[in-house]
Amino acid sequence: RPPPKIFVVSNRLPITVKRTDSGRYDICPSSGGLICALDGLVGITGFSWYGWPGIEVPEGDKEEVQRELQKSNAVPIFLEGDIADKYYNGFSNKILWPLLHYQMHEIKICSADWDAYQSVNRAFATALVPVLEEGDVVWIQDYHLFLLPSYLRQLLELAKKKVKLGFFLHTVFPSSDFFRILPMRRDILEGLLACDVVGFHNCDYTTHFLESCEKILGLERRNSQIVFQNRTVTALTNPIGIETEKFSRLLDEPTVQDRCKDLKEGYKGMQLMISVDRLDYIKGIPLRIAAIDKLLTKHPELVGKCALMQVIIPSREEVPGYQELHTSIDASVSAVNAKYEYTPIQSLFSSVSQAELTSLYATADVCIVSSTRDGFNVVSLEYIACQKARHGVLLLSEFAGAAGILTESVKFNPWDTDGFAEAIFRSLTMSEDEKESRWERLNQKIEDNSSKKWGQTFLEALSQ
Ligand code: G6P
Repeated sequence: RPPPKIFVVSNRLPITVKRTDSGRYDICPSSGGLICALDGLVGITGFSWYGWPGIEVPEGDKEEVQRELQKSNAVPIFLEGDIADKYYNGFSNKILWPLLHYQMHEIKICSADWDAYQSVNRAFATALVPVLEEGDVVWIQDYHLFLLPSYLRQLLELAKKKVKLGFFLHTVFPSSDFFRILPMRRDILEGLLACDVVGFHNCDYTTHFLESCEKILGLERRNSQIVFQNRTVTALTNPIGIETEKFSRLLDEPTVQDRCKDLKEGYKGMQLMISVDRLDYIKGIPLRIAAIDKLLTKHPELVGKCALMQVIIPSREEVPGYQELHTSIDASVSAVNAKYEYTPIQSLFSSVSQAELTSLYATADVCIVSSTRDGFNVVSLEYIACQKARHGVLLLSEFAGAAGILTESVKFNPWDTDGFAEAIFRSLTMSEDEKESRWERLNQKIEDNSSKKWGQTFLEALSQ
């Protein structure tokens, strides 16, 4: 028997399609943790990737877009503009995203968004069922597609095809007491329970999911399994990894080495701190700016001796909360910079190439991850992977999923401005021995837990 075919399904494909001024199409790599995470899977198994191309494509151009995406083994699921807007900007990013990250004030419940979310999840199921065969594996990614497993299971039962269904959530799963705010909480949980295995990055999220099934649906739990409609559903804690070779290769490139030299020259006599985030209210950017201000006030000896370079990648620009955040970050950075006689914080609002990112990671003495909530946070792994030569310090919010495994980082609570500032101080003044021993242990974990291994572990659990 040939090995099962694997279908990875996510809202966003690894490449984003953009229309050029001349009316043709350009493709560029997508950003975000999920895309980086699945990178390693390509190395272990062939799979086809189904997802939304990110823009509305006119009927006459669909074939061209399909051909372009085919080169990356990706198959587009086309959505009409208004439905896509209500499904993506609406239900996914104005309701689910803030709910999953405990941002109650950002949640805007709207029934038209819920209708669109259901119909898009149905459209994905309808597109997939005809191509699936007995014994295939479907691995669904993230909160945009919570309902897809139940729609798929219904259609597959009608078509009498046995297919394994897996789901991985790349965000936080909040405590059942918060999750139950959502009016559609039962539909979402039942959607997930149509799977054979549901994966999470952190054991707290797994527990929260299992407790939600018990408390909201009244189901019986056996350790990390739930019995639902005469099937057993397994909840799996399986934190993501990265492929470190990609960064080692980039670090050897002459352009990266030259850029590192320039950066060192530019920040001569200073310690460089770096942060890299999508522009998102969960990343704790205002709290980080406040902590830098506090650090320089409490430790005036550091004025002119350290600087933060924050790379902020534009994201979800059509969602109101995101637009306001950009303006408020700009204002608070200007206020802090005006207070001191140099530029302690530099913000770069743009995507950066992998080579530039690697150069920044490699040059920085400290990396700050200040998320108030974060499913995992792959930046923390990438920074360590680029620090073989310097053993820089990773300053990691205790609210990032990665904190569950990166226990040798300097952990802090981003809401505690004094504690946060002291954690930065500690990182900037840490002895070389301590830095080295922390880095060695972190690096070992990262080497041992590649994204390849993450993919394999999940697919093995699914095949049992
Ligand atoms: C997070 C989500 C991903 C998402 C990424 C980028 O990492 O878990 O599913 O792809 O953010 O966000 P975007 O809305 O641009 O896809």
